[in-house]
Amino acid sequence: MRKTTLITGGAGYIGSHTAVALINAGHNVLVLDNLCNSSRECISRLEQLTLTRVEFIKGDIRDANLLDDIFRRYDIDAVVHFASLKSVAESVRKPLDYYANNVAGTLDLCQAMARNNVFQLVFSSSATVYGEPTRIPIAEDVGTGKPVNPYGRTKLMIEELLTDLCHSDPRWSIGLLRYFNPIGAHESGMIGEDPRGRPNNLLPCLMQVAIGRMPELTVYGNDYPTADGTCVRDYIHVVDLAIGHLKALQVLQHNSGINFWNLGTGTGYSVLQIIQSFEDITGITIPYRFAPRREGDIAQCWADPGKAGRELNWTAQRDLHQMIVDAWRWQSCNPQGYQASFEISALIAVK
Ligand code: NAD
Ligand code: UD1
Repeated sequence: MRKTTLITGGAGYIGSHTAVALINAGHNVLVLDNLCNSSRECISRLEQLTLTRVEFIKGDIRDANLLDDIFRRYDIDAVVHFASLKSVAESVRKPLDYYANNVAGTLDLCQAMARNNVFQLVFSSSATVYGEPTRIPIAEDVGTGKPVNPYGRTKLMIEELLTDLCHSDPRWSIGLLRYFNPIGAHESGMIGEDPRGRPNNLLPCLMQVAIGRMPELTVYGNDYPTADGTCVRDYIHVVDLAIGHLKALQVLQHNSGINFWNLGTGTGYSVLQIIQSFEDITGITIPYRFAPRREGDIAQCWADPGKAGRELNWTAQRDLHQMIVDAWRWQSCNPQGYQASFEISALIAVK
């Protein structure tokens, strides 16, 4: 019988795309999500997209009894752990929620895994653990820095606790995937990013302006030491990111200990380049205005993805054009996100 991969936070943005990648590669998956930042509709979309029944349990990673029950009922051999709160601004206002959900939640999950003899784990980390980069492109051997907000600190703490765990017991095999800036959506337009409330990240904000939900885009800072004065980031297509998880799971099966991998493209784009690309591709003008720098932003950052290339046999395949086309297809087909049903007729032509 095929083993099952447990995906915590699998109804969320990156988790749902990873579920598709795993199902398409022949994995049995079980999604555990408390839906605090996602919707049940996402699971229906996954089923339509993969033509598979997707096992879903609504529940919390901090519920020890539930976790034990899940590990007893399903033959789970690996966990891909996305469940987390992720808003930087909210983490500043509500640090206890972030430490409780992200750090304590990961502890609860690992304890339940150990109790039930499951030792393979892929964890969603972030380039935020590098803090202010001392070298660009950022390679893993630069070491971690000082994240500038509670959200970032939860990621670094979890990396450290998982590292200690691996050092304590050779049965553990853990991959820390440090994402750069995930954007885009599945090419079907059926699943994508569906932020609750007012988004903070660049692409979701740009999309809100494009569909008329926000009057203009605020560009934070035009006096950075970059070619056009705006910040540069390494945007990566969420489907490429999802495939990175599949590759990591394959490698962890034959490995033990802790492993760190950057998942980025190795190319940086400025905020103005993103706006320009979006306008060129969709023909839609994005009104924007410059505002002062946003606290905690670094001028530029992009990955050296060479280690993932060598060790996972993974490189990002989709370029910025594809990221924007797919993000816009999702957004224009689903202007209310998962709240409204998918309308194929809403598919719009993109150049
Ligand atoms: P998301 O909010 O869309 O997905 C997270 C999912 O976890 C949501 O569906 C939410 O309902 C669920 N969840 C949260 N707490 C839970 C709990 N205690 N129990 C069960 N389910 C819970 O976020 P995402 O963008 O898909 O991010 C996934 C992971 O990747 C997170 O760990 C995030 O910190 C990390 N990450 C995201 C980005 C990004 O730009 N999106 C960048 C770097 C790292
Ligand atoms: C942010 C978080 C990071 C987190 C990541 C994914 C901060 C400081 N960093 O990364 O910890 O891992 O999201 O959740 O919040 N921008 C605008 N206008 C906007 C929104 C963004 O100009 O309306 C700019 C930002 O100033 C930045 C760039 O766009 O220069 C990218 O921003 P964003 O998408 O928020 O990602 P990061 O800041 O890189």
